[in-house]
Amino acid sequence: MRTSWWLWALVAVCTGDQFRDEAERIMRGTPVIDGHNDLPWRLLTMFNNRLQIERANLTSLANTHTNIPKLRAGFVGGQFWSAYTPCDTQNKDAVKRTLEQIDVIQRMCQMYPETFVCVTNSAGVRQAFREGRVASLVGVEGGHSIDSSLGVLRTLYRLGMRYLTLTHSCNTPWADNWLVDTGEDKAESQGLSHFGQSVVKEMNRLGVIIDLAHVSVATMKAALRLSTAPVIFSHSSAYSLCQHRRNVPDDVLRLVNQTGSLVMVNFYNDYVSCRQEATLSQVADHLDHIKKVAGAGAVGFGGDFDGVSRLPVGLEDVSKYPDLVAELLRRRWTEAEVRGALANNLLRVFEAVEQVSDHTQSPEEEPIPAAQLQASCRTMYGYSEAPSLHRQPGALLASLTTVLLGLGLL
Ligand SMILES: *[C@@H]1O[C@H](CO)[C@@H](O)[C@H](O)[C@H]1NC(C)=O
Ligand SMILES: *[C@@H]1O[C@H](CO)[C@@H](O)[C@H](O)[C@H]1NC(C)=O
Ligand SMILES: [Zn+2]
Repeated sequence: MRTSWWLWALVAVCTGDQFRDEAERIMRGTPVIDGHNDLPWRLLTMFNNRLQIERANLTSLANTHTNIPKLRAGFVGGQFWSAYTPCDTQNKDAVKRTLEQIDVIQRMCQMYPETFVCVTNSAGVRQAFREGRVASLVGVEGGHSIDSSLGVLRTLYRLGMRYLTLTHSCNTPWADNWLVDTGEDKAESQGLSHFGQSVVKEMNRLGVIIDLAHVSVATMKAALRLSTAPVIFSHSSAYSLCQHRRNVPDDVLRLVNQTGSLVMVNFYNDYVSCRQEATLSQVADHLDHIKKVAGAGAVGFGGDFDGVSRLPVGLEDVSKYPDLVAELLRRRWTEAEVRGALANNLLRVFEAVEQVSDHTQSPEEEPIPAAQLQASCRTMYGYSEAPSLHRQPGALLASLTTVLLGLGLL
């Protein structure tokens, strides 16, 4: 057929590079701010946080989703790096391990100053955009990292923490995690305990973004109701497209809309398609759905790169963001909507959180619940109960003797 050559040329122009070129043009002005990346965890598990060994050079780092050339190719201009310590460190060395992950993020910024700049506010993010560096922020993943202490929360804020995920995949003594909704864990706090409410209020006062990835639906609703600032889901997708409890259900998406909050879509196959395999197009379906239910202002990206074992075809590493943006343009997202999803929505939330914060207000003084105090502290703070007999064999012998004497047996 004589017409076919130009028809195919037209199809090629409209479906191929045109959208990809447009994506790059937009991203040169508005790079992506991603909500959650676990490279610091990889640096711990691969190199025990030694950044100076040759294999750990971030310019040539292999076998990870993230390295400097991939970040550059992906137009990543802002990243919440995850300071994560597993749930089995809860009530053990969680605080120390969190500090070490914050340290490795800060050393990354120090060792590669031409690529990364550690920032702690929205103005810093905008400045980094202008300098062409990756604005690097600390997100602490899991409320167990504060060890039920507002003093630790405040100190982590001073060390740069700008979001705290209220739980990882375990309850804290004050907030419930998503496994409560599968029935694998028991509900303990009915959303947020009294202390959990103090944590949220103190986060508002400090200017720490409340992150509701990983929490139970009751905790999502309690935090959305209580917080005076918008919140984020740093790496969660839409429940109505994949019925996984890590995802956000539609009634919560409506609360997200009402509060001006933000859902940063997770790319993990298991949350995208509920299967081992997934595609870039299915991730775009999640973005479309959240846009439809919560509004274009509620959409962001939280790839979970280097935190997951399976990623969609077409989104294998951090260099692939422009392909996802091209897909949104193909789906007729406007340039403003795309810029929102890339960075402006997060910046809006971050600025609102900064507005709400008030360092002139006195800090919350909710004491550490006595039951959470380690035995050693309990004695120190005068919470001591009966002398701990098993740690004092002499005392045990003495009291046994008293009892036996009293019974006239000795
Ligand atoms: C990483 O490797 C590059 C060369 O590939 C080198 O220029 C750079 O100094 C190295 N960076 C560090 C921090 O070792
Ligand atoms: C919430 O929904 C309204 C009405 O659909 C819309 O105008 C608004 O932009 C939405 N908010 C966000 C944050 O997208
Ligand atoms: Zn996570």
